[in-house]
Parts: sequence; C-alpha cells; structure tokens
Amino acid sequence: MTKDTVLMNKDLDALHTRGFLGIQVDKKLDLVWEINQLRKAKNAVILAHYYQQPEIQDIADYVGDSLGLSQQAASTTADIIVFAGVHFMGETAKILNPTKKVVLPDLNAGCSLAESAPPREFKRFCEMHPEHIVVTYINCSAEIKAMSDIICTSSNAEKIVNAIPADKPIIFAPDKNLGKYLMRKTGRDMLLWEGACIVHEAFAIDKLLDLHGKHPASKIVAHPESEEHILKVANYIGSTTGMINFVKNDPGQEYIIATEAGILHKMSKEVPHKILIPAPSHEDNTCACSECAFMRLNTMEKLYLCLKYELPEIEVPEEIRIKALIPIQRMLEISKN
Ligand code: 13P
Ligand code: SF4
Repeated sequence: MTKDTVLMNKDLDALHTRGFLGIQVDKKLDLVWEINQLRKAKNAVILAHYYQQPEIQDIADYVGDSLGLSQQAASTTADIIVFAGVHFMGETAKILNPTKKVVLPDLNAGCSLAESAPPREFKRFCEMHPEHIVVTYINCSAEIKAMSDIICTSSNAEKIVNAIPADKPIIFAPDKNLGKYLMRKTGRDMLLWEGACIVHEAFAIDKLLDLHGKHPASKIVAHPESEEHILKVANYIGSTTGMINFVKNDPGQEYIIATEAGILHKMSKEVPHKILIPAPSHEDNTCACSECAFMRLNTMEKLYLCLKYELPEIEVPEEIRIKALIPIQRMLEISKN
C-alpha cells in the first residue's frame, strides 16, 4: 500500500475540502503508467487547457481552449471527467453533465477574472439594466452563468455579439479588455463589467516594444484578454486555439506570444522550426507573471490522486445548474457551424 492510500483512508471528508495538501505520493510510482491504468479502469477522460503544464497536456485525452473543452465535455461518454484546468471550467463540465463525476486536481485552482464578478454585485448591476441582454465570458462562476442570457469564449465572442439583434442593448462581463476589443470589432456599444485577468494585464508595452525592436521580423500574437495598448500593436488577436493556428499557418518565422506561457508547449510542437518568444511582463525579473498561478496548482501528483480517489469533486447546486445550462447550450448551438 502506498503512503497516499494510508493518509487518504483516514479522512476522506477533510480531503474533499482541503484537497491533497500534505499528501505524499510514493516517489517510486510511474505516474504516467498509474494514470493510464486508472483512466482505463474507470472510463475516465482527461481534459486539459493549453495553460496546463507540459506533462499534464501530454497525458490528456484532449487539450484545447475553453470552447473546445466545453464541446468535449458536452459530448463525452466517459463516466468521470478529470478537468485539468481551473474551477469555472470544471463547473461548466458539471453543468453539462449532472450525472457524471467531474473532478479537478486542485479545488483552489480559481481564476482572477471569474473572481472579479461577485454574484451579489453582478445581480444588482443586471437589475439596474433590465432591458440589456447579458453576454458573459465563460471565465465566471456558475452563479454568474445562471444570471446570463448567453455565454461566450474568446473563440466565439464576436460571432455571439453579432448574433444579438442590433436594437438590443448588451451587458458584457466580466472581462473589460475582451469587452472593449469586441466593441471595436463589432461596432456595438456595450455596458462593460470592470473585470480583468491578472496574467494578461501583466504584459508591459514598453518591454514588448523593446523586444520587438530586437526582433523586427517577429509578429506579435495576443489573446484578447490583454489590454488595449498590447492589442493595438498585435498582428493577430485570438483565442489560444486561434493563436496556435495563426502561428501554424502564417508564413513568418518568429513570434512574440502574449498569453499564458503554457501555450508554448503545444505551439512549439506544432511549429518546431519557428522561434516563439513569450511576451515580457512588468515584473519580469522578479516573478513568473505570464504563468497563471491558478492553472499551475494542478500537478501530475494531484492529477493521479484525484483520478484514484475521485476527489475533489465539482458540485453545482441543481437550481443554479439548470439556469446556467441554458446560456451555455445557447453558446454551443451558435458555435456548431
Ligand atoms: P481561451 O481558452 O478561450 O483561449 O481563453 C484563455 C483563458 O484565459 C482561459 O482561462
Ligand atoms: Fe483566469 Fe487569467 Fe488564469 Fe485564464 S489566465 S485562468 S483568465 S487568471
């Protein structure tokens, strides 16, 4: 019996809320082999975002952006969904799959953007503008989704905003940077919630321009959660999947990548012959600002433990789940073609 089994059996309830903190995984275990055995035996699927660490991406059944992951979650026949991503992504999978078990390697894997929209304040905001259609970025809690008319991701946001009749006023939440970008792209005037992602707001324009000066042939590729001054100098703006496809299909050879650094793993596999440079952050010398601390909470050890013990599980109260499902389904329907 391995050490983690002894600890786990002692106090399952506490582990559910506390996570796997302090639990030692036997160092001799071949985690890749163990995870593969468990996945097969339990009919589990591992879904991972591009921002996960390389080993997790490499063992996942599917790696993608928020839209691709939601589509996979909506269509899986697995009994257990192991979501290697952050909490709102696991919640989305659970909303779509109430009878399946959805587990997240670390329940503390939150999201600064999702946290920037507290449900009580957001409810008040919506009540002040009852005539508005509420378009919400998927990076938000289940409660916020339950108050929304339609969900979007960075892949389909423009299409979704354009699908709303021109005479309908729109609230866009919670990302003000994506919201401003969409206003420029669609020409729609939207009421924006003032939320943002700490990772995408950490990119420094002066350092980025300096870096570009040193690599004049490079193209700047940015995620729309980045601030307006970064997006203004970008040659391509899109979701993580969009960014990977751009770098793959573009004839250039050198790119500066303004999004979470985890994307470089997949990107460099797709274009091993091209030069990929992570965009610099304000505090470049003192922190890993382009790494999302929430995404990085997930590790191979926690992935193994959560698959083994089927904990910690994502739960969404049924009343919220039913309301949140409607705007997610609307998004999936519009994104079909
Ligand atoms: P996409 O997955 O839509 O590219 O968004 C990235 C992100 O911020 C996920 O948290
Ligand atoms: Fe949230 Fe930003 Fe991390 Fe994405 S990168 S999970 S938006 S904090």
